[in-house]
Amino acid sequence: MSKNGAGVRPESPVALVTGASGGLGQALALELDALGCRVAVHYNSSRQGAEAVREKLTNPSVLVTGDVGSWEATQALHAQITAELGPVDVLVNNGAIRKDSLMAMQNPADWAQVIQTNLIGSFHTARASVPHMLRQRWGRVINIVSPSGIIATAGQTAYSASKAGLIGFTRTLASECGRRGVTVNALSPGFMITGMTNTLPDRVIEGMEDKAPIPRFVTVEEVARSVGLFLDQDCMTGQVISIDSGVSIT
Ligand SMILES: NC(=O)c1ccc[n+]([C@@H]2O[C@H](COP(=O)([O-])OP(=O)(O)OC[C@H]3O[C@@H](n4cnc5c(N)ncnc54)[C@H](OP(=O)(O)O)[C@@H]3O)[C@@H](O)[C@H]2O)c1
Repeated sequence: MSKNGAGVRPESPVALVTGASGGLGQALALELDALGCRVAVHYNSSRQGAEAVREKLTNPSVLVTGDVGSWEATQALHAQITAELGPVDVLVNNGAIRKDSLMAMQNPADWAQVIQTNLIGSFHTARASVPHMLRQRWGRVINIVSPSGIIATAGQTAYSASKAGLIGFTRTLASECGRRGVTVNALSPGFMITGMTNTLPDRVIEGMEDKAPIPRFVTVEEVARSVGLFLDQDCMTGQVISIDSGVSIT
């Protein structure tokens, strides 16, 4: 064991990627597999997307499903991962939804669902996996956040509050886990064309690229490539790493 209480990184860590059926989640699953992880490929409703990415993985993997907004469903999917691969060593809270509306007109049930999925769901998965990480004195929690967590975008009070909350969660959980070799960080991608954004009207997307210091969208592969940094760095915790074309500094 090292001086800071960290244990040894497992040879082939078990990595849970929530929402691995979606755009960024698929790329994250592939990258973690390439880095030697055994990936739990999670989906909520798009089994096809999850199966497609699982077929490309080279290491042992498992397909799991469930709404992370439900504590019972989250416990069940963790039990399946533990039985088939072992407990989760690397948690990537990637699964999320967006239900945009000006707040004064927003359906309260929609607002609550965004918080339930994006924020409370991330608590559920962390609650289910972090005790094992603390016991083995090595673990990684990577929360996918968004520039919307810090930059105001009209129509996104729910999404923004969920991601800002997740940044606070990241920092505070990091402070609880550092002495036991578990790092907790956030990864903030810029605008990517995925299932979450490809239904936006052209007039919203047009001109968006030019607002960033690096005037282009980010690809899911570019964001996923950074995940190795989170695995490798024992002394990086509580941070928000932005791969966002610089939009967060505007
Ligand atoms: N796209 C962007 O421009 C952008 C920018 C910044 C941050 N992000 C963040 O990047 C992450 C990935 O999003 P994406 O762009 O790849 O969008 P996406 O293609 O829509 O993927 C979202 C994923 O979340 C899953 N999901 C939805 N409801 C869920 C629930 N109740 N429980 C568990 N998983 C659920 C979906 O699963 P099913 O399809 O199986 O239902 C899907 O796999 C999200 O955290 C998002 O906030 C995206």
